[in-house]
Amino acid sequence: MKGSDSSSLKSGYLLVSFILGYVPVFVAWIYTEVLEYKKSSSPSKVHSDVNLVELGNEPAKDDDRAVLLEGGVTKSSSVGFQSSSVRENLIKFLKMDEQFLLGNREVFKAMSEFGFILIYFYLCDRTNVFPQSNKSYNRDLFLFLYILLIIASALSSLKKHADKSAFSGKSLLYLNRHQTEEWKGWMQVLFLMYHYFAATEIYNAIRVFIAAYVWMTGFGNFSYYYIRKDFSLARFSQMMWRLNFFVAFCCIVLNNNYMLYYICPMHTLFTLMVYGALGIFNKYNEVPSVIALKILSCFLVVVLVWEVPGVFDMLWSPLTFLVGYRDPDPLKTKYPVLHEWHFRSGLDRYVWIIGMIYAYFHPNIEKWMEKLEESETKRRLTIKTGIVTASVAVGYLWYNYIYTLDRFTYNKFHPYTSWIPITVYICLRNFTQELRNFSLTLFAWLGKLTLETYISQIHIWLRSSMPNGQPKWLLCFIPDYPMLNFMLTSTIYLFISHRLFNLTNSLKTAFLPTKDNHRLLRNIIAGATISAALYSISFILLLIPNLAVGHSHPSTSSPEPPSPS
Ligand SMILES: *[C@@H]1O[C@H](CO)[C@@H](O)[C@H](O)[C@H]1NC(C)=O
Ligand SMILES: *[C@@H]1O[C@H](CO)[C@@H](O)[C@H](O)[C@H]1NC(C)=O
Repeated sequence: MKGSDSSSLKSGYLLVSFILGYVPVFVAWIYTEVLEYKKSSSPSKVHSDVNLVELGNEPAKDDDRAVLLEGGVTKSSSVGFQSSSVRENLIKFLKMDEQFLLGNREVFKAMSEFGFILIYFYLCDRTNVFPQSNKSYNRDLFLFLYILLIIASALSSLKKHADKSAFSGKSLLYLNRHQTEEWKGWMQVLFLMYHYFAATEIYNAIRVFIAAYVWMTGFGNFSYYYIRKDFSLARFSQMMWRLNFFVAFCCIVLNNNYMLYYICPMHTLFTLMVYGALGIFNKYNEVPSVIALKILSCFLVVVLVWEVPGVFDMLWSPLTFLVGYRDPDPLKTKYPVLHEWHFRSGLDRYVWIIGMIYAYFHPNIEKWMEKLEESETKRRLTIKTGIVTASVAVGYLWYNYIYTLDRFTYNKFHPYTSWIPITVYICLRNFTQELRNFSLTLFAWLGKLTLETYISQIHIWLRSSMPNGQPKWLLCFIPDYPMLNFMLTSTIYLFISHRLFNLTNSLKTAFLPTKDNHRLLRNIIAGATISAALYSISFILLLIPNLAVGHSHPSTSSPEPPSPS
């Protein structure tokens, strides 16, 4: 079993690197709290506790931090990994630089909390501290819970966004965001419940939801780049941070492939494609024929990569380390490593372009709708009734001929038809002014957290219990009380997802300066250097016991995966 051996070794390195990085940060945070406490109890001096002062505030400090991390760590490697010596070294070092530490107290706090959450992830999913239970599906219960949530949120959080001028200029984007977020919320709740209850009968609907997210990626990003024309490095790295920061740490700590969280590589890819499409020759974006040409080339690229046999594999095989995935399920190991990526990215290969097209024509449609609202009642009603009838009819036809197909046949049609239900939803959702103005804030709140809830579910709500495993079990805190357990795990899970959302944001503000490209680059390089250093140190650390014992198993590797029962 050479493969599993090397993979558990890898997990050992990554995990140890994480711990090596985390301990100094955690200690630094505790220390700043102590300093802060001392300070506040002595009446002198006001210090600058701007929350989340950017870490690179004084560029020299950045390097100090690298030295600090590495210094603390190298020392420890010679003594053996004892937290006390790390702590001593650190405190000795840190005492020289109280001001820096105090100024960044919030950053250390955020980093510590983030690390703490990851440890909780590990505890829930990679150890047997908490038991697991099996999924069970009951349509009645499933619908009951979903409808209950709708009723509850309609009663408590229906909100009118009262902009009379919602159909001109800036406030429109505002309105738009409420709606898209609410829409994401609708879908996300069903998507999550689908996983929790293993509601395989709505498989096809879930495919449509994912397509809708991808549609929104095209729509939102196109609008943004088209209107703001901001192709800067700062903006770009913020976007990548938002999409990939948390998932990267999950991969490191839990030794998972990036592809386990397929939503992330998929959105990253399509975001990059939109960015590329608009960014190349962006001076000419005002010219309609250039946009038409760009959209046409997007279609051509997709046809070339996904429809011409062999091109996909040739193009992606150098990136197998990033997008490869092997399901540990013995029934599924037979698939080639790129199969999952091909399947997932292929399902929604066109719909992001549709999103871009809709975004391009959005202002025209807005204008047209504005005119329609102002026209005489009879004309307005006729047109609206026409649109609604047509949408319902098309929706029905789609449902009847496409949706009800079995999942394998459905997947074949999906890339070419997923825009139909999306368009129908948009038409129906907007057909009166009232409908447009209202949104359910609770769902919009959930819609904001889609990325975090998507990633966290696998580990702290459900359980995959082994590296790269699909979440086949439920995390169980209260055995024998499935509903109470559902309530408890869901509460903790939502709370943590919300924290993660905020932490991702505040760490982004701390590490990615918005205006100073030079510093941004420095931070990126420093980050890469620190990670490389930590990784090499953990490599050496794990080599020592290995050499001593001969070629046996590394002693620090991850615990045995719990046997699936
Ligand atoms: C209609 O609703 C969708 C989502 O609910 C939104 O994204 C879109 O911008 C709206 N369109 C118009 C023309 O208001
Ligand atoms: C671009 O798409 C990504 C992925 O869906 C999303 O997270 C991000 O908010 C989008 N950007 C804009 C400006 O809408």
